[in-house]
Formats: sequence, C-alpha cells, structure tokens
Amino acid sequence: MLPKEKIIVGLEVGTSKVCAVVGEVLDDGNIMVVGVGQANSEGVRKGEIVNIEATVECIHAAVADAEESAGVEIHNVYASVSGGHIRSFNNRGTVAVTNEDREISEEEVRNVLLNAKAVNIPMDHVVIHAIRQHFFVDGHDGIQNPVGMIGAKLEADVHVIYGVRTRLQNTIKCIKHVPLDVANIAVSGFASALAVLTSEHQQLGAVVVDIGGGTTDYIIYSEGTIQHSGVLAVGGDHITNDVAIGLRIPMNRAETLKIEHGSVAIPPDDEVLTLKREVGLPDRQVSKQQLCRIMNLRVEETLTLVKKELEKHKLMEYLGAGVFITGGCARLQGLEPLAAQIFGLPVHIGHSLTVGGPTSAIESPEYSTAIGLVRYALGSQRDQHQPPSPLRKIGQSFQHLIQKARAFL
Ligand SMILES: Nc1ncnc2c1ncn2[C@@H]1O[C@H](COP(=O)(O)OP(=O)(O)O)[C@@H](O)[C@H]1O
Ligand SMILES: [Mg+2]
Repeated sequence: MLPKEKIIVGLEVGTSKVCAVVGEVLDDGNIMVVGVGQANSEGVRKGEIVNIEATVECIHAAVADAEESAGVEIHNVYASVSGGHIRSFNNRGTVAVTNEDREISEEEVRNVLLNAKAVNIPMDHVVIHAIRQHFFVDGHDGIQNPVGMIGAKLEADVHVIYGVRTRLQNTIKCIKHVPLDVANIAVSGFASALAVLTSEHQQLGAVVVDIGGGTTDYIIYSEGTIQHSGVLAVGGDHITNDVAIGLRIPMNRAETLKIEHGSVAIPPDDEVLTLKREVGLPDRQVSKQQLCRIMNLRVEETLTLVKKELEKHKLMEYLGAGVFITGGCARLQGLEPLAAQIFGLPVHIGHSLTVGGPTSAIESPEYSTAIGLVRYALGSQRDQHQPPSPLRKIGQSFQHLIQKARAFL
C-alpha cells in the first residue's frame, strides 16, 4: 500500500458524473495518476446540488471505485465547485512597509494578499480564491516575488473568485456525509486549467473552456497569471435538450444520438439515421443534417458567449497559445474546426498534459477537473504565502447551520 501523505485525491461532483482521481506525488515532485473512479451523477443540476441524498450516494460510489482502482483508502479529498453563481474580478491590495530597513518580508506579502482579498462582495457570498497576479513595489510593475526587496509601499494584484456561500456549503456537506474530509475546494475551471495548461501555455496566454453537462467553465491566463474566469450555466445537457425538442424524441434517445451520430460540423449530404426500436418506442428516422444543425447552433452560441467575455475584457490579443477545450463535450465531433473559426485562434482538444499516468485517464477530457485538483493541492501545500483556506469560513458557518438544524429537531 502507498504511504498516505504521497497520495492526493481530486473529486469533481459534476452535473453528468462524479469522478475521483487518485494522484501520487513522485520523489521528483511530478504527479502520477494511479487510480480513477466514476459514477453517474444524480442530484446535480447546472453544476449545483439539488438533491443531497442522491449526490452523497454518487460520491460514495465514485470514491469506492477509485479506492479499488488505486488500491488505497480515501479519507480526504480536494473538491471542485461550479455553478452560475460563481463570479470573479481583479483587485489590488496595498500595505505600507513599516520595517526600519524597509525590507519586504514574508509577513508583508501575506498581509498585502489578505488586503487584496478583503473586498466588498454581497453578504451571502464568500471568496473562494484570491490568486495573485503580480506585485508592485513603490509603483514598479511586474514583480513576481518581492521578498527581500526594499520599498515603502507594496501592492498586489489578485484575481478574486467568489460564490454563494450556501451553494458551496451544499457540495461540502455532501462530501462530509460520505463521510470524507474536504481538504480544500477549487473552482472547476481553475482546476481544469492546471491539468491542461503547461507553464509555457500560461505564459504565452491561453483560454481553457471546460464544457461539461450543465456548465461551461472558462479561465484565461496570460503572462503566467489568471486574467479572468467565469462560469456559464450552459453545457452538453442543453445540446441534448435541443436535440430532443428539435427532433421530438426523449432525452435519453437524444443523448445516445448526440454521442453516437452527432457532430457540430454540418455534413454536405444528408443521411437518414434510424433510431432502433426500444420498449414503448417505435423505430424512428431522423435527418443527420438536422441533428448536426441543432448541435452546431447550440455549441456555436456557447463558444460565442465565451468569446464575447474575452472581447469585453480585451483579452483576445493575449492568447498566444490559443484555446484549450476540455470536459466531456470536448469529444464532440467537428468541434476543433468550429471553435477555430469562432475564435480565429489555434484550438487544442484538452488532454491533461501536466501529469503522468494511463492514457485512458490523461486523454479523457472529462477527467481534467479532478486531475487538476491534484495539481492544485500540491501547489497550495507548497505555497507558504497562500491566504487561509476559504473552507475555514465556509466550514464555520456550516457548523453553525448544523447546530441550527439540530435545534429544530
Ligand atoms: N463522445 C461524446 N460526444 C459528445 N458529447 C459527449 C461525449 N461524451 C460525453 N459527452 C457530453 O459531455 C457532457 C458531460 O461532460 P463532463 O465533463 O463529464 O460533465 P460534468 O463535469 O458536468 O459532469 C455530457 O453532456 C455528455 O453528453
Ligand atoms: Mg466538469
């Protein structure tokens, strides 16, 4: 059995599936995927939990599967969160350097990051990440590590990601009910980016678009730091829904049709597809062109929404490495040329490039988030400047909630 401290588990409670990835930290600091577990998701809509009991069961099944696959016992996980309630903005923090010698210490760095994080967000929201972009010392830009520098004023730019406290608590509550400990949480798009982007891509500039079942999570890097991020409450389920409505077939048939015969490239010649007879459902014939047209419209609309965000934040010129698409919908036929045409940039279908392991895991786009969580965990364990985990805040109110619930019983 592998020693426990070298094992990190990433858990994604997605709209379509719950997935647990077991990563082993090798002596050279690299990560190897040593096990994956998965279960179909029930109780999650558009990335948010709507049925606690069903979700707990799915997490339990996925984790048991991962335990068997990796040959380890899992007690502790890093979890991803998603949903349309997650928002972001950039903020600047400032502190005066008060040491006599004006030498910037670790403490000032911690303080300026805390100051940058202390922002006005609505009462019922909580900061999930305050990710540093760069520092300024007496107005000098682009400083990556100011420790040891001399200056009177230290400033830090951070990318703040926040969400509705109770919705985040629901994810944590489900995981704790399994029962498992939650070591920390990260937003899905950030985790996916850590799996699919190398540091060269982050430096050159890239957008990662994770298209899952109920959400599209995006995040933009340039010059090695996060510039912008967000979540659209639209995903592959909407494509399936459009197919079901457009072709007047039930959702499960539409899902199979989408995966087995669908494409976002409209074929020049039509073809008749026959849906096999099922219990209670007769044979049906549908036009492949019509199927692909429906799928093309929805995917084009979703990617155009992401492009508009990039344009709004003036980030289109900073994407030297291009667009990385991941999540289950990255498997859509014809996606690469469609996305290249929309963005006018090179498009890569996201495989996890930053970890080792079986190709079946690292080449599966739907695992990027859980794989990236393992990288996130390793990074946050090593980062001594990291402000305290948002879990403390979320967890405290969570305890409070439980006490309140108990008082009711
Ligand atoms: N081969 C495929 N072709 C097209 N779509 C696919 C394929 N495989 C999975 N999908 C779609 O990907 C979505 C699920 O992606 P995933 O990343 O697993 O979601 P989540 O993380 O939200 O649970 C579903 O809408 C599913 O239909
Ligand atoms: Mg996902």
